[in-house]
Amino acid sequence: MGRPLALITGASSGIGRALALRLAREGYDLVLWGRDARALEETAGECRALGASAKTVSKDLALPLGSVAFERVPDLLVNNAGFGVHGPFLQTPLAKELELLHVQADAVLALTKAVLPGMVARGSGTVLNVGSVYSFTPVPDQAVYGASKAFLRSLTDALAVELEGTGVRVLGFYPGITQTKFRERAGMKTGNNLSGKTAEEMAQAAFEAIEDGNVCAVPGVSNKLLVALTSLVWGTGWRGSSSASTGCAGSIQRVPSGTACRRARARLPDSARWAGPTRPAAPAPV
Ligand SMILES: NC(=O)c1ccc[n+]([C@@H]2O[C@H](COP(=O)([O-])OP(=O)(O)OC[C@H]3O[C@@H](n4cnc5c(N)ncnc54)[C@H](OP(=O)(O)O)[C@@H]3O)[C@@H](O)[C@H]2O)c1
Repeated sequence: MGRPLALITGASSGIGRALALRLAREGYDLVLWGRDARALEETAGECRALGASAKTVSKDLALPLGSVAFERVPDLLVNNAGFGVHGPFLQTPLAKELELLHVQADAVLALTKAVLPGMVARGSGTVLNVGSVYSFTPVPDQAVYGASKAFLRSLTDALAVELEGTGVRVLGFYPGITQTKFRERAGMKTGNNLSGKTAEEMAQAAFEAIEDGNVCAVPGVSNKLLVALTSLVWGTGWRGSSSASTGCAGSIQRVPSGTACRRARARLPDSARWAGPTRPAAPAPV
């Protein structure tokens, strides 16, 4: 059998880059996708030095992908590319948020649709979607980022169930704070550089998740705790990880009830509550 092939988006930096190197060490060949051609080529060179073949695709995932065709259907697709938009919803730029949705929803959809038929026909393959601990909770001041990660989780859980028995696995990987360019790019305080895990630690956790057969992975004790607590508050249910029917996918049956939403709202600090729309003054008649 030949070497397995992994396609990773966002492989020019951070978690995607670290995962590319981890997979190269494990015998994968790679297709590395991002915008920064130089950084991609650098990662590809390091992968080649580890014995892998590595191609780069320098394309903006915020632009329509159209139909995607593969010379060879990857054994592993990692939908990892992403960025954040930080700030009160009333002040954040719509154009940037639409770009975020193109990268973190539209492109994920397009690439996943493109690989799945070939994977199912072959009877094997894995799609790993990189969500966030924010996939499990609404995120004031990162509302659209949180919503995109919730979309990703819902899509992942649904596909995991739909594809049971096909030999194809769709897996959600939900990191917390990681030391990458992410926070700086989102215009957030980078804070203590020692907080959070390194990209290499996240890549190791993602690799273990790919290997262990689960459909949901929240790496690290503090992230697990955070997800468990926020899921309780918001009633969005997370039950650890095991199989498609009892992992994150278990939450499919747990739509947050009105009571859970009211309970969650009652626990919000005043500063996080939205009093409702202020009605604009009626325009003066001309
Ligand atoms: N770091 C954290 O604290 C954290 C926490 C939870 C989840 N995550 C998730 O982890 C994933 C990876 O982020 P990271 O922390 O590794 O951040 P990062 O170092 O900023 O890497 C982001 C990657 O996404 C790519 N990307 C962004 N916009 C793109 C576009 N329009 N087209 C193509 N590629 C694009 C970037 O490539 P180019 O620069 O070449 O465009 C880069 O390779 C993201 O989905 C993020 O939401 C991160």
